[in-house]
Amino acid sequence: MKKLGAAVIGTGFWGKNHARVYRELASTELVAVCDVNCERAKAVADQFGVKAYTTSTRMLKNDDIEAVSVCTWSTKLGKETLKALKAEKHVLVEKPMANNTKQAEKLLETAEKNDLHLTVGFLMRFIPGLRHIRESVENKKIGELVCATAKRVSQWPERIGDVGVVKDTAIHDIDVMRYISNEEPIGVYAKTGSMRHRKFEDYAQIMLTFEDGKSAFIESNWITPYKTRMLTVTGSKAIMRLDYITQELWIEDAKENLQPRFPWQEPLKLELQHFADCVLEKNEPVITGVDGLKALKIAEAALRSSAKNRAIKLK
Ligand SMILES: NC(=O)c1ccc[n+]([C@@H]2O[C@H](COP(=O)([O-])OP(=O)(O)OC[C@H]3O[C@@H](n4cnc5c(N)ncnc54)[C@H](O)[C@@H]3O)[C@@H](O)[C@H]2O)c1
Repeated sequence: MKKLGAAVIGTGFWGKNHARVYRELASTELVAVCDVNCERAKAVADQFGVKAYTTSTRMLKNDDIEAVSVCTWSTKLGKETLKALKAEKHVLVEKPMANNTKQAEKLLETAEKNDLHLTVGFLMRFIPGLRHIRESVENKKIGELVCATAKRVSQWPERIGDVGVVKDTAIHDIDVMRYISNEEPIGVYAKTGSMRHRKFEDYAQIMLTFEDGKSAFIESNWITPYKTRMLTVTGSKAIMRLDYITQELWIEDAKENLQPRFPWQEPLKLELQHFADCVLEKNEPVITGVDGLKALKIAEAALRSSAKNRAIKLK
């Protein structure tokens, strides 16, 4: 079986995991890694016995590399992704994908022009319980979808990022709401603020509204002294609750409380396996560049809504 030659740009906390998983999967071969921090690049390269680079320009010249994960600081994702696409590599870019929607659009255009896969690291979609929720909404086992509430709160992050909590954290739930409803929100109203961060918002409450009256509520912050990642989905026949950390799912309806069991699986492994399969078999990934662009547009609208203190219509 032909293995997909893969590389990672940005080998910090998260990129290290991408490198490990490419090494572990049977269908991928980790070829090289790159980080502007020489020590980090070398440590990860040595761990997996591959070549280390400190600039992606040189690494991307290697023809054995067909696919790249871009896991740099959030504000460098767009630039590095564009370089990789121009070098004819398939790309999985971490969220939030780009600095702004204009840059994200350029990535989509370049991927299309060069006939390349471009997918975004919306990891939640690979948690089996979330897929079960999406199916239950689609086949109406849950009845009519009324609303969904997401809570993704945690302590102050060790690595203070270069974007705020909306583009870093809430963006996962923005994507989840589009995914489970299989619809685009038509409006957003948000309240964001900063209690400790000097530059960016560190808490956000975001409400998304949909055409037929259903709504979604997203609570994200970096100021709560414990970590919770929960989703509650209310339907006219049942309520479903998912704990993203333990991957436990609860379903309550008029008659019973159920807890279907899905064996815990590492979402990143499922995500990179899917990316590799799509590239090797020339299939479209479940998460496309368009999904990344749409989530980013909604995140930007949420920040605008809070700044202007009014609801924003989404086109
Ligand atoms: N999908 C998820 O669940 C998930 C989880 C964690 C992080 N992330 C995303 O992954 C990205 C990285 O996050 P992190 O926590 O690993 O941050 P980090 O700061 O630990 O690592 C980022 C690394 O990128 C390197 N870097 C920066 N610019 C570079 C460039 N131009 N070329 C090469 N290397 C460069 C830095 O030196 C650093 O080592 C972020 O965009 C974050 O949003 C996604």
